[in-house]
Amino acid sequence: MTDAADTSAADTTQVTLWWADAADWGSSPGDLMALLSAPERDRFARLRRPADALAYACAHALVRLLAARELGIGPLEVGLVADLGGKPRLDGRRLPGVSLSHSGTLACAALCRTADIGIDLETSGPRTGADRLAERVLTPREVGTWRANGGAWADLMAAWTVKEALLKASGLGISAGMEALQVGAPPPAAAHPLTVPEAMAPAEGWAYARITTIAAAAAAVAAASPNPLTARYERILRGQCGMP
Ligand SMILES: CC(C)(COP(=O)(O)OP(=O)(O)OC[C@H]1O[C@@H](n2cnc3c(N)ncnc32)[C@H](O)[C@@H]1OP(=O)(O)O)[C@@H](O)C(=O)NCCC(=O)NCCS
Repeated sequence: MTDAADTSAADTTQVTLWWADAADWGSSPGDLMALLSAPERDRFARLRRPADALAYACAHALVRLLAARELGIGPLEVGLVADLGGKPRLDGRRLPGVSLSHSGTLACAALCRTADIGIDLETSGPRTGADRLAERVLTPREVGTWRANGGAWADLMAAWTVKEALLKASGLGISAGMEALQVGAPPPAAAHPLTVPEAMAPAEGWAYARITTIAAAAAAVAAASPNPLTARYERILRGQCGMP
């Protein structure tokens, strides 16, 4: 494993996060396919853009490899299912927290033994229309602070990923409305008190951490836990991503 970072400490919610760059696979998924279930292979085949399909395959392979290691079973024995809202779960709930995200060529997967979690990764670079996007995803107070801080795309993406990670941890997904979730500044700081949609209450029951080590992407992980969140994250290279 490479690029490992460990911020673990006692009395925290600990998350293990693996990420990979699908560009390592060139134009063909190769040995990733053997790590996918039949439904995942079908979904892979239906994705039109090859880059999206590879990143999808990478994320699902990472979840299976990571869960297999944690549970001491084979990757294809990992029962990865989705609930009605689309939130991934490990069949039998032997590990309560599982989440994945893919964007551009990057993919990541995360597991937690003690809490439901959500992870989000965004690779998009600055675009026109940042102001309109900010008004859609930030609270009015956050929009004001974001503009006062210079209106940087990176700050907007930092807030986006924190909100999406929290909404994914809750299982609500972004349909719950990012603008109903106040994370502060942007860029958000974990110490800032959250205001959450009613379906996620209480606000003190959630923790998050921004991740700044996945290439140049904006990323965040969140947990349904009042304890501070710490993450151990590693980049997984192509050679480490085959069937054991
Ligand atoms: C989940 C969601 C936030 C994904 O956002 P995204 O940035 O496009 O994609 P990401 O790569 O970050 O995450 C995708 C993963 O999130 C997970 N996911 C899907 N729905 C989820 C939910 N409700 N809660 C938590 N995780 C969810 C899945 O594992 C999915 O992986 P897969 O598509 O490879 O199977 C977004 O699609 C969503 O909110 N969906 C919920 C329903 C919804 O709003 N639908 C829109 C109808 S117009």
